Amino acid sequence: MSKRIDRRTFVGQSLAAAGVMTLASGAARSVAPNDKIGIAVVGAGGRGGSHIGAWLKDSRTEILYVVDVDEKSGNKRCDMIAGEQQGKRPTFVTDMRRAFDDDSVNAVSTATPNHWHALCGVWAMQAGKDTYIEKPICHNIAEGSALVAASKKYKRVCQTGTQCRSSPAIIDAVKFMNDGGIGEVNFARGLCYKRRKSIGSLGDYPIPKGVDFDLWSGPAQFTDPKNTRGRFHYDWHWQRMYGNGDSGNQGPHQTDIARWGLGIDSHPVSIISYGGRLGYQAERKNDKYVDAGDTANTQVSVYDYGDKCIVFETRGLEIKPSADDELNRLFGSSKGNKIGVVFYGSEGYVVQKSYTKCVAFDKEFNEIKSFGGGGNHFGNFLDVCESRNMDDLKADAREGHLSAGLSHLGNISYYLGEDNKVSPQQAVEIISGVKSLDDNKKSLERTLRHLEDNNVDLNKYPISMGPHLKFDPQKEVFPDSPQATAMITRDYREGFVCPRAADV
Ligand SMILES: NC(=O)c1ccc[n+]([C@@H]2O[C@H](COP(=O)([O-])OP(=O)(O)OC[C@H]3O[C@@H](n4cnc5c(N)ncnc54)[C@H](O)[C@@H]3O)[C@@H](O)[C@H]2O)c1
Repeated sequence: MSKRIDRRTFVGQSLAAAGVMTLASGAARSVAPNDKIGIAVVGAGGRGGSHIGAWLKDSRTEILYVVDVDEKSGNKRCDMIAGEQQGKRPTFVTDMRRAFDDDSVNAVSTATPNHWHALCGVWAMQAGKDTYIEKPICHNIAEGSALVAASKKYKRVCQTGTQCRSSPAIIDAVKFMNDGGIGEVNFARGLCYKRRKSIGSLGDYPIPKGVDFDLWSGPAQFTDPKNTRGRFHYDWHWQRMYGNGDSGNQGPHQTDIARWGLGIDSHPVSIISYGGRLGYQAERKNDKYVDAGDTANTQVSVYDYGDKCIVFETRGLEIKPSADDELNRLFGSSKGNKIGVVFYGSEGYVVQKSYTKCVAFDKEFNEIKSFGGGGNHFGNFLDVCESRNMDDLKADAREGHLSAGLSHLGNISYYLGEDNKVSPQQAVEIISGVKSLDDNKKSLERTLRHLEDNNVDLNKYPISMGPHLKFDPQKEVFPDSPQATAMITRDYREGFVCPRAADV
């Protein structure tokens, strides 16, 4: 009996055990039309194109559906797939539920905007599909828990799109650290120093022709489509109703590596976050100008785990030579984007510099070892879809939930403190009173210097200081802040409610 027949047999048995029926039809589960893993790709924009590319390269799969609420994007991808390796045009649909109703679909890979990730994943798993879900796998903490519960309940593979987990460069660097390569390591700093220009002001921009805006909005509130951003696709990242800023865009890669390297398997016990959406007024030389984004472009979040600590820093303005001496030496450059993780050990540093490169340094910044090589995260997902050995999965729902959770927890503190505008002196006083394994004052001062380097007038446009929040990692509530606990979830529209973990 072939491995793939084993897989299907397992799918049938496990679904029967879980009592899962297909979504609408309730029809009996059929076998896929050939011996391949039938895939539905949901969200065929930039990243969806990478998913399609990965499935086309792997002879174990056949793309049966492309789902996109933008007819133009979806049909373009279908034409491309028909003309490329696959030779056969997938079915194009705009509503993912139609693909989930088809028993020949075994797996769903999703690269929609963030606000759709969890509901798509839950629906897919309820319909018996294995899932590959882009980071951040959820738009809020409760959605992450729901995915963990659904994966467990329906015994479905749920891979998070944090592909670094399959990268030998990072796997080897983490092993080197765990074997004591840089001594004791309790602290890591994730960086997204990545220039992001303003997305322009809110305005009356038409929704692109062929986009079903009702379906696009899905679990988010349905807003006046005329009061939106200039570029419809991608720039939703910077509007909190749909995206999570760079702490939830680039962030989940780096916070995931930080957590993994430090061996942290829980949420933090306290969080504080500060920053702002700053500098874009000066960019446009017009003080009245309001950027359509409402997530921070400058943000520092401190996550305390008691004996360990992670800090994540976002900078969206130009990265100029600044007071970042140590970081400049570790990254080998004082200018330009810096995206990665620095682990601080008692005897040296390990720096994750890219998806395929890590370098270890001694305390004097001499390179002592380097690690290279990229992996195949999509391949790992397919391996587990076949073997059903869930322990072999590199980034399961729980890993995805804990790492996405860091961006959500940081944003909760930041959003709650948004109106708490503080002068640089007040900020230094507050942050100096927060104990952590980082030098909080130094990190704040570097951040303020970066803003000043970009001509941000901090008296006119002060930063916001979020509250220092205690968090209960097991119960996923803020014991001292009902306001923060309310932000663990969101208000959903009828028909697009992501169930809580207990109800999946
Ligand atoms: N792992 C990585 O390295 C990586 C890289 C880039 C992006 N991403 C993630 O991928 C996701 C998509 O990013 P992007 O840059 O491709 O965004 P995008 O806006 O370019 O594309 C999103 C696509 O999803 C479609 N869509 C929206 N709602 C849908 C729905 N309900 N059903 C089907 N399609 C829907 C949109 O029409 C669009 O074509 C994001 O969550 C992002 O964080 C991950």
